[in-house]
Amino acid sequence: MPDPIVTLCPTSEIPEGSAKSFEVGNLTIAVYNVGGQFYATDNECTHGAASLADGILEDDVIECTLHYGAFNVKTGEAVQAPCFTALRTYKVIVEGGDVKVDMDKTAAD
Ligand code: FES
Repeated sequence: MPDPIVTLCPTSEIPEGSAKSFEVGNLTIAVYNVGGQFYATDNECTHGAASLADGILEDDVIECTLHYGAFNVKTGEAVQAPCFTALRTYKVIVEGGDVKVDMDKTAAD
């Protein structure tokens, strides 16, 4: 079993109020910086083939630029139509100035 904890980048690479996508194995995840706290979800919108890291992050809500659906990045919950299916979240760990994710855990774990 590979180690589920993956180091993504230094915290400085994701400034406050921004998002960035990362390939982890065969998944692409988006990491968001909300007021200095980091959150991670699947990068692909649950409504269609759009990259949420390219969306608009306002506080803890990411808006998809394709049809303007939106999700809460802390819980993955869909908060704006036409998105109704929640995003999977991943547990983020900040350690030694790096952003890491535990791919086996959700934000709620
Ligand atoms: S693809 Fe994201 S709202 Fe439609």
